[in-house]
Amino acid sequence: MISNLQIDSTTVLVSKSLDDFEKEIHSAFQNYTRVFLLMDMNTQVYCFPEFQKAFPASVKIETIVINPGEESKSIVQAEQIWKQLFEANATKSDCLIALGGGVVSDLGGFVAALYKRGINYFIFPTSLMAMTDAALGGKTGVDFLQIKNSIGVLYAPEKIMIATSFLKTLNEREYKNGLAEIYKHAIIADDSLWIDLKSNNFNYEILLKSIAVKAKVVNNDFYEKGERKILNFGHTIGHALESYALINNMDMLHGEAIVVGMMIEAELAFNAGILTQAIKEEIVNVLSTKFTKANLSKVDFKALSDFLLQDKKNTDKICFSLPSKIGKCEINQFFSLEEIKKATLVYLELV
Ligand SMILES: NC(=O)c1ccc[n+]([C@@H]2O[C@H](COP(=O)([O-])OP(=O)(O)OC[C@H]3O[C@@H](n4cnc5c(N)ncnc54)[C@H](O)[C@@H]3O)[C@@H](O)[C@H]2O)c1
Repeated sequence: MISNLQIDSTTVLVSKSLDDFEKEIHSAFQNYTRVFLLMDMNTQVYCFPEFQKAFPASVKIETIVINPGEESKSIVQAEQIWKQLFEANATKSDCLIALGGGVVSDLGGFVAALYKRGINYFIFPTSLMAMTDAALGGKTGVDFLQIKNSIGVLYAPEKIMIATSFLKTLNEREYKNGLAEIYKHAIIADDSLWIDLKSNNFNYEILLKSIAVKAKVVNNDFYEKGERKILNFGHTIGHALESYALINNMDMLHGEAIVVGMMIEAELAFNAGILTQAIKEEIVNVLSTKFTKANLSKVDFKALSDFLLQDKKNTDKICFSLPSKIGKCEINQFFSLEEIKKATLVYLELV
């Protein structure tokens, strides 16, 4: 059975199998003479065969394959893809499809948005991170000067087709990476999802609820003037940590950084009197049980602070979105580096 949601101008279809999308794939792509398909070397191996079977034989697919991993989310990589598109004489009546995780969908969206001022773009997310978060909401971009997502543009895809059958080849670490954002969605906007997560393993209904949270928030505020900022819970610290990890060759995935971010930011919320001690402890305990704690003991707080000060969300102070209870989040909470350091030290003692 297909679930159908709308995010801004984009139709999002969710199902357990790609075969369920047969009709939708046919009607979405039959009128394109050429379809360019962006994937990484892993999704080429694990997902492309299934994708190809579901695609109408009459439509020509031209593949563009990149190296897997965050390093590919760069201007240099985007340039190479634009070059390939120009060399293939791609026109505005062709389209680009991303078949992959968040790296492929962020990069693909960025490339599609700017190629000849925009060509139609479709996403088939293959990682849990992309299905629950990265592919949804139109944020595209690349990392620049080793700062995460520092160059980018909002660009709504035509359609997103989420087939959870792709998840069967995802490894345990990447699963947990995506789960981090599902926990975030529960904490900021859906207490019933939080209850589900505490007592169940990941399942399809949990994914649907998580997608619904993201869809609702983005629909209320596509351009992130207000409410959409709640999605940044865990991300102010998380993004700084990811940028720090990028330049220090630390092996840290986006979701892993976000889990640390949520724990430190829950402490900040408690220190500021926004969150009760009991709920802060519940958040920290649940996250500590469900996720492996990252060891930050070697992280230099001064260097991390430089990234915090560069975050796109800041004006002159450091801005956070913090939960006030399970299912509710307050935006525009400002803190000094001293206050952040104090909360970080509490996290370090937990490790
Ligand atoms: N645009 C947004 O709103 C948004 C939101 C959250 C995260 N992001 C971005 O998403 C990125 C992280 O996404 P990600 O975790 O999906 O990263 P990713 O695209 O690097 O995928 C993770 C790994 O899993 C592999 N993979 C993907 N699907 C697979 C499958 N079905 N089977 C086997 N292997 C598979 C990939 O090749 C890669 O090695 C980050 O760059 C982050 O900034 C963007």
